[in-house]
Amino acid sequence: MMIVYDSNLQQFSLQVGKASYVMALHKGSYLTTRYFGLRLHGDFLASPFVEVPRSFSPNPLADDERFSLDTLPQEYPVFGNSDFRLPALEVEFEDGSRLVDLHYDQHRIYEGKPKLHELPSTYVEEEKQAQTLEIDLFDAVSQLRVTLRYTVFAGHSILVRSVLLHHEGDAPIRISRVMSMAMDLSLPDYQMLHLPGAHAREREMTWQPIGKAMHSIESRRGASSHQQNPFLALASPTITEEDGEVYSVALAYSGNFQLVVDTDQYDVTRVMVGINPFDFRYLLSPGEKFETPEVTVGFHAHGLGEMSRDYHRFFRKHLLSGRYRDQLRPILINNWEATYFQFDEQVLLQLADEAKEVGIELFVLDDGWFGQRDDDRTSLGDWVVDTRKLPHGLGAFGEQIRQKNMRFGLWFEPEMISPDSALYRTHPDWCLFVPGRNQSVSRHQYVLDFSSKEVCDAIIEQLTKILSQAPIDYVKWDMNRHLTEVGSVSLAANRQKEVSHRYMLGVYRVMDTLTKRFPSILFESCSGGGGRFDPGLLAYMPQVWTSDNTDAIARLSIQFGTSLIYPAIAMGSHVSAVPNHQVGRVTSLQTRGYVAMMGNLGYELDLRRLGEEDRVTIRQQIAFYQQWRDVICFGDLYRLKHPSKQQDAAFLYVSEKRDRAIVTYIQIMARANPALKRLRLQGLATNETYSVTLHGTEQTGIFALSPLTLVMNGDELMQYGLAIPYLHGDFLGCVWTIEKAEIAP
Ligand code: DGJ
Repeated sequence: MMIVYDSNLQQFSLQVGKASYVMALHKGSYLTTRYFGLRLHGDFLASPFVEVPRSFSPNPLADDERFSLDTLPQEYPVFGNSDFRLPALEVEFEDGSRLVDLHYDQHRIYEGKPKLHELPSTYVEEEKQAQTLEIDLFDAVSQLRVTLRYTVFAGHSILVRSVLLHHEGDAPIRISRVMSMAMDLSLPDYQMLHLPGAHAREREMTWQPIGKAMHSIESRRGASSHQQNPFLALASPTITEEDGEVYSVALAYSGNFQLVVDTDQYDVTRVMVGINPFDFRYLLSPGEKFETPEVTVGFHAHGLGEMSRDYHRFFRKHLLSGRYRDQLRPILINNWEATYFQFDEQVLLQLADEAKEVGIELFVLDDGWFGQRDDDRTSLGDWVVDTRKLPHGLGAFGEQIRQKNMRFGLWFEPEMISPDSALYRTHPDWCLFVPGRNQSVSRHQYVLDFSSKEVCDAIIEQLTKILSQAPIDYVKWDMNRHLTEVGSVSLAANRQKEVSHRYMLGVYRVMDTLTKRFPSILFESCSGGGGRFDPGLLAYMPQVWTSDNTDAIARLSIQFGTSLIYPAIAMGSHVSAVPNHQVGRVTSLQTRGYVAMMGNLGYELDLRRLGEEDRVTIRQQIAFYQQWRDVICFGDLYRLKHPSKQQDAAFLYVSEKRDRAIVTYIQIMARANPALKRLRLQGLATNETYSVTLHGTEQTGIFALSPLTLVMNGDELMQYGLAIPYLHGDFLGCVWTIEKAEIAP
């Protein structure tokens, strides 16, 4: 049993992989967080919760001055009745009152994992892979039922939480804050790790002390955004990749979110995660339910590396969905950085021929194939092929690609509309706007009102038509602006603060419908690169374009940050031209290839302009990646050296069976007369013998190591390490491949 309840102690115990999560009913009805940490062998705590009278912490029970919600570690705190910390739930009743008093009512423990109705869900394929606990808290005055859900999964130190509100009273309620989870923990001297960024600079690993302040990591942009990611870790002071305790939360939601870390006067840290209460208010009528997004909550005692590997496996097994979940992804060429909007059929076919010749498997036609779109000022919404560019139509073009024995992919931006489009001229009220107010453009476009069923249905039909007409194997779903003038003519005045959330529900419905309707299409999500790289979108689209920044060196920190919880198989990663279009840097084709091989390899440059030497290199890269991509996509990642100090970076993938591994080392800035260093590996079998081959130094090492292939024991590789070659120049790299050696008896 992974979840047990002791009715004498009134404690719930959840075995969460190598962790335990214990909750207790205080005074028989207040649900408290008692313990979350390393697995306890006994399920329950014998120690009582110690209470003392505290001045300025009021007492709900007049005869008990030691009891205050202000000092109680709680699982779902509310507003107004003695807890002054930030609540998880805030509602307003018709009479203007805002008080809710939540008491334990009942609970259920069952096998399996419930699916959310309109939101992305983690899942299990067999009921026995998970167990769920639902605890009902009830407010007797308003008849509001709050169900806290906890699912634990076999083999993972990660649980999933969400909340379901059920309004059993008879007058409408306005919800202004409803977090997916809360917990109160003691985290002395812990530090926070989160992933702020910007367009083309996503997910920079950023540490800061928790201190005694409230931190709010949030998005108010209508998308999870480049600027913040709905992920947060709280780590012990001496955390490293291999050692130290780390709590983590990640919200499966792609809209406005909030992650709160708030440490109180007695050093208790409240962690809350959910939909951002900013510009949110939801009207719940009698009998209605409201479901929050899911949040993953992890505890790992062996550093960031263990956390990442657990998330990677967990997301690959319980979040990514569809046929491509377990399939290696095709190596693609995307014409965006090769041609931008300036292409015609002949140019594209030449590019496809070049791509085929070097071994590329999928041709992706990016922005500019529809309407009259020669730049980004027009045509979004008019998903009809531009016959000036593709005179024989999309179907015929796709067929030509297929005849080259390549798959065909297409770019869309379904959530957007250009003011200069037939769609806008016909349906100006289909976008988000507030009548009588100015309407901001961003990249010359408006946002379609996905909170409206009518709009979503129309988009589903438009896309269905194209996806059924042409031989399409892959779709890149882009989203290139954030939400402003958030208003919908499809909703009543008292529901306008529901628009951002309903927008996300609309997006999820459209994605759910199309991905199910076209199960053989591989969908890659994108939002100006990695502006919606979050667990919510991953539930529908198993691959994400990681960043519009394709520079190999800039990509190191973007990909390292992304890899904190997102698996390699989800990361789109391309080799592009030099000087790089975003930063102007020149790096070798070899280094660009090595960095792009940290995820799903693709190319995004004009192959027609390359010389024969570069073509040979690309052909070799592709052949090499084809041999090793299973280890990269399904293996365990070890971040051996972080690029943060701008000196070097190294990462290792080890196959599940520990019989194959691949190590990449990138020197960022060269130093004169450097110290000679070794790279200690991890995750291999200590008593196994491996054949280790060094690649790449023929181009970069002035003192190349020889022999290039050695037979080494796992413990030598992990304890003594690999000698890093002396690389002469900035931005150079090398790779080692490691295979279990067949030793004659
Ligand atoms: C932003 C994406 O991130 C790019 O890869 C490209 O698809 C452009 N949009 C096209 O407009």
